[in-house]
Amino acid sequence: MDKPKVVLGVSGGIAAYKACELLRRLTESGHDVRVVPTASALHFVGAATWSALSGHPVSTEVWDDVHEVPHVRIGQHADLVVVAPATADTLARAAHGLADDLLTNTLLTARCPVVFAPAMHTEMWEHPATRDNVATLRARGAVVIEPAVGRLTGADTGKGRLPDPGEIFEVCRRVLARGVTAPDLAGRHVVVTAGGTREPLDPVRFLGNRSSGKQGYALARTAAARGARVTLISANAALPDPAGVDVVAVGTAEDMREAVLRAAPGADAVVMAAAVADFRPAAYATGKIKKKDGQEPEPVTLVRNPDILAEISGDRVRSGQVIVGFAAETDDVLANGRAKLKRKGCDLLVVNEVGERKTFGLDDSEAVVLGADGTETPVPHGPKENVAETVWDLVAERLG
Ligand code: CTP
Repeated sequence: MDKPKVVLGVSGGIAAYKACELLRRLTESGHDVRVVPTASALHFVGAATWSALSGHPVSTEVWDDVHEVPHVRIGQHADLVVVAPATADTLARAAHGLADDLLTNTLLTARCPVVFAPAMHTEMWEHPATRDNVATLRARGAVVIEPAVGRLTGADTGKGRLPDPGEIFEVCRRVLARGVTAPDLAGRHVVVTAGGTREPLDPVRFLGNRSSGKQGYALARTAAARGARVTLISANAALPDPAGVDVVAVGTAEDMREAVLRAAPGADAVVMAAAVADFRPAAYATGKIKKKDGQEPEPVTLVRNPDILAEISGDRVRSGQVIVGFAAETDDVLANGRAKLKRKGCDLLVVNEVGERKTFGLDDSEAVVLGADGTETPVPHGPKENVAETVWDLVAERLG
């Protein structure tokens, strides 16, 4: 089979050096990558670097190798075009259909999915001109990844950083795997919870669970690659922030409830993938609980935590909203799942069989997605991304 053909557009920003890492990841995972920098990008990283890393000649203009008609060929033959970093100027030229260099010509001739990973100063990102250009590109079907928040060039910090190249690579991989040019969650806002809550006993101890957050992060990553605006409410997951996703860190079930209730009213879908503790210690010791010679420890009394999924499913704040729960079961998996779906009142319930060496902390899982309308969608054993894609297929169907 031919290698998938990727065009890596690079525009002139300091983050151009991070595109070398993206290029490396793409080539090492079996993609044929043609780099098309802008003339300004070459001020930051030279043509020799792009050429050596990609194994292809590199040009910024349409006037080189004219007999090969590169200004149309490169775009026509691409399976994916990714522009990283995309500067405010490149976004503007792409939105207005200008064709004054090889990259903009390529963008006009490409009929494959297009991903932009913008990077610029916060003021430029927030400028109404850039906002309009991003909206135009998204409306036309491009995936424009939200920049990350953090250190910018010089001493500035704010929104505008290029996301981690490994995470941009994940977006490219997902977009290529789907191969469709119209992201079906574009214009949608989704909320995903991930990880496991921790319920403190004292300043150094907590009751926790074995959830790694991998399933929730896969849901957030795949939703972003399908064009959604994603809020990821993450409890104690030691995982990198997915590209373009707004991450809200929480600790306890109470914190998670507050964050979900704040985000849910504006969301088209809420997916509760987090393992929320059902109980918390009734009392919190403000000082460390010390052992005392010759004395047994005090028993720990537990109280119930609020059930967030049942609460948001019961008091629907937004009509047409799709709510998805997860069920971790060890026995009578499907029967327990059906009963739980009814009890919680959500629209979909992803039922996982869990155990010592099943699901928790692993990259793979298998599941059955139960619908309140009686449907049953099995997801065979495979990467957690497969479960995530199936969940979004079913959510997209229900959102119409
Ligand atoms: N959940 C929640 N709030 C809680 C507990 C769980 O929102 N306090 C959500 C989880 O995020 C998950 C779903 O409910 O989406 C199922 O959680 P699970 O622990 O499997 O079910 P329980 O209701 O706790 O039932 P049981 O402990 O009897 O299995």
